[in-house]
Amino acid sequence: MTVGIDAISFFTPNLYLDLTDLAKARGVDPNKFTIGIGQEKQSVVPPSQDSVTMAASAGSMLLTGKSTDYINSISEILFASESGIDNSKSGAVYLQTMLHLAKNVRTIELKQACYAGTFALMTAFDYVSLHPNERVLVVATDVARYGLKSAGEVTQGAGAVAMIVSSDPKLAGYNHDSVFQSQDLMDFWRPLDETDAIVSGKFSQEAYETFFANAWQDYIRRTGRRIADFKAFVFHLPFTKMGKKALDQIIDQADGQQQQNLERNRLAGQIYGRQVGNIYTGSLYLSLISLLDHGDVQAGDLIAMFSYGSGAEGELYSLTLMENYQQAIKSHVQKDLNARQRLSVLEYEKLFKLFPKSSDDQSLMNEYDKSLFQLAEIKNHQRIYKAAVSKLLIK
Ligand code: HMG
Repeated sequence: MTVGIDAISFFTPNLYLDLTDLAKARGVDPNKFTIGIGQEKQSVVPPSQDSVTMAASAGSMLLTGKSTDYINSISEILFASESGIDNSKSGAVYLQTMLHLAKNVRTIELKQACYAGTFALMTAFDYVSLHPNERVLVVATDVARYGLKSAGEVTQGAGAVAMIVSSDPKLAGYNHDSVFQSQDLMDFWRPLDETDAIVSGKFSQEAYETFFANAWQDYIRRTGRRIADFKAFVFHLPFTKMGKKALDQIIDQADGQQQQNLERNRLAGQIYGRQVGNIYTGSLYLSLISLLDHGDVQAGDLIAMFSYGSGAEGELYSLTLMENYQQAIKSHVQKDLNARQRLSVLEYEKLFKLFPKSSDDQSLMNEYDKSLFQLAEIKNHQRIYKAAVSKLLIK
């Protein structure tokens, strides 16, 4: 029996910052951002968006129009995030209500920096392997904040990827070939009382490269596969240059023609990340959608997936594309990205400083946000969510 990703969707807020504008405002050569880092734009969150609203928007794209039987077959909601909204209650419980899922569903939040989305997916694969008639909703959702005028500012972003895991999946089958590694490192972290990440930038890049090189060695030793078996490598992309740095370490193992093919597909896999920025847990899976929308791939192809989460943990595994995989992509990412509103640097800075604290009662509705699900207000330390279209009070 094949287990894998049955459907996938992506949501990002409808606001963006052009990084050439940011470079000029920060007195930096724009080529450093667009070529050196490899980022063109970044999504910006209004105060009415958070990891829960973004996950609900992405999740609703997968569930809209589905039958009651389908909805009731979802037994678990796995909420992967490093920008959760509560230290106790899981974001997944909010989703159960917001997405009208059944009560007899397991809900849990998972954290290990950007790696948690992959762990959630692996847990879902395991569950469905034992319960082939059931489905799991996996969401990987984050707001990436480093701070105004910090070195990491150019790599911020926000968004959520939602996936349905099932048996006989329509998008891609998992090949049960994961290799993984953990090591206690301080390359990037965010203490509980901080809103912005703390990062040792160069060290984090070195750690990412080392984890990928080690994972690849381990993978080929355990599986007997070679680089020639793969049609594409898909990467967690904190910024798009990182994927190039990783692949460059092993590309010499391919012959000349395949090097060109892998490079073309690497570029296809970074088209969306270049316009969105780092979305932490969902980044690898946004890269997958980007590859599938723009790459030279077809059903039956073997795709290598590299997940890295600071702190640090890495995992390399492969997916095999299924027939008609295009129909399992439930969002029109480029259309949504083109429809975003461009902010000036001043507008972005204003919104950045409005990041809401749960201790202050406040209304968060604003003129910018056009999303289906919004954080309407914070009252008595509670987040009050609304579905904007139906004007339905969710909580
Ligand atoms: P920086 O120090 O400002 O940049 O920070 P730099 O001086 O290293 O320059 C960056 C690149 O631009 C260099 O290229 C320069 O040569 C080039 P490289 O040598 O690396 O190939 N450059 C130019 N190119 C063209 N024209 C120019 C020009 N000037 C310079 N005029 C840094 C960069 C990425 C460190 C910073 O943005 C940062 O700290 N970002 C956040 C950390 C990060 O993303 N780390 C990635 C690995 S860790 C990871 O992926 C996990 C993560 O997602 C978190 C999680 O797991 O939760 C972050």
